[in-house]
Amino acid sequence: MKLWSGRFGKDTDALVNTFNASIDFDRRLYREDIRGSMAHAKMLTDCGILSPEDGEAIQRGLSGILSDFEAGNIDFTADNEDIHMNIEALLTERIGDAGKRLHTARSRNDQVALDFRMYVRREIGVVIGHLLSLETVLCEKAKAHQATVMPGYTHLQRAQPVSFAHHLMAYANMFARDVTRLEDCRERLNKCPLGCGALAGTTYPIDRWKTAEELDFDAPVENSMDGVSDRDYALELLSDLSILMTHLSRFAEEVILWCSWEFKFVELDDAYATGSSIMPQKKNPDVAELVRGKTGRVYGHLMSLLTTMKGLPLAYNKDMQEDKEPVFDALDTVEICLPVFAAMLDTMKVLPGNMRQAAGRGFINATDCADYLTKKGMPFRDAYTVTGRLVAYCTREGKSLEELSLEELRTESELFGDDVYKALRLENCMALRNSYGGPAIRETTRQIQDIEDFVAERQQEDADT
Ligand code: ARG
Repeated sequence: MKLWSGRFGKDTDALVNTFNASIDFDRRLYREDIRGSMAHAKMLTDCGILSPEDGEAIQRGLSGILSDFEAGNIDFTADNEDIHMNIEALLTERIGDAGKRLHTARSRNDQVALDFRMYVRREIGVVIGHLLSLETVLCEKAKAHQATVMPGYTHLQRAQPVSFAHHLMAYANMFARDVTRLEDCRERLNKCPLGCGALAGTTYPIDRWKTAEELDFDAPVENSMDGVSDRDYALELLSDLSILMTHLSRFAEEVILWCSWEFKFVELDDAYATGSSIMPQKKNPDVAELVRGKTGRVYGHLMSLLTTMKGLPLAYNKDMQEDKEPVFDALDTVEICLPVFAAMLDTMKVLPGNMRQAAGRGFINATDCADYLTKKGMPFRDAYTVTGRLVAYCTREGKSLEELSLEELRTESELFGDDVYKALRLENCMALRNSYGGPAIRETTRQIQDIEDFVAERQQEDADT
């Protein structure tokens, strides 16, 4: 019999029963649901709305359900629709009338809003933990490759010299922003919807500050209609995860390029690559490809929830039951992509010789050649033209700029002297790019230190709480 069967003259149609039920996926909220109910019951007892005996029975009953479920001794059923009603029914089965009093001054609408918020809040911590581990891998790799010259690209054309460390730290900065975005989301969501009731609060003398505090929220949600119908935090989480996946996917794409024969900048560890069923020579970057591929799925979840929410009148509508699966799947996806990607990076072999060789072709020191002339007094725009002519000449002759003789160089400008060869050496070109944020070792050292501080600050806070 349904908890709400009072006003109904018939049983629910079997298909509707299946269609309406969410227990298959919202069972994940069991911990939050039980913790929320315990806080609610405690507050009801403290406020004199429940007797101490009933309060006590509820606490004991709920903790019994928690341990039995975790031991695998409880089967939830679709007949009880969702996690909230399953637990309430079970509680009543175990402790009788006291169980029936738990739902006083509460609705499933504020209950689900609470559970989901707490779930998102906890999972944000998990995602941040994975991001911080990835940052640590990036910093370690970067430290080993501050002097590893590689071509930096624009338009996927070789552009200017950078170091592998500099390239890695670009991603480290993106992931640091992802961390702060998630922290912002967590801070904004940290208001407690419990006590909003169905939509209009309650006539009981409840204390919303008590439950908010008990459940580690900063304050109660301000407006009861907003409290039961707001899913901004889920949308914000999905946006943050989508941006994070964009970063991961761009990185994955680069790893895929880097381990192709065309680049061969890195070689993946055998444990993080896969073979082909027909081509014996193949070693494929499936991990990176899957990360890139799964990005689409996370974007899809964001779009799906935005679309679910866009036309809903206030306050709660059952459409909102569709909020959970996208969030759960997006979290599952990100929570596997991050550690597997970090481990793949950690174990991959970097091939500095190949990077250096690629850097030697493609005139990535052309800007430095123009800068050389500029520093000798030629206006930059003229120096640019002179260098462009030299590049065209080199292309015809099959040479690089530093392979030209002083005589050849001087056909374009008298300003060229012996010191030009030093200026064109890629290692020097990179070392001179010591402007703030640049690839020079002094700068990458600072960047690595900044990210390490960023990580340490958070790990310290974690250890303190
Ligand atoms: N399973 C429901 C959900 O996830 C719980 C809230 C149900 N509320 C209601 N008024 N039917 O949204």
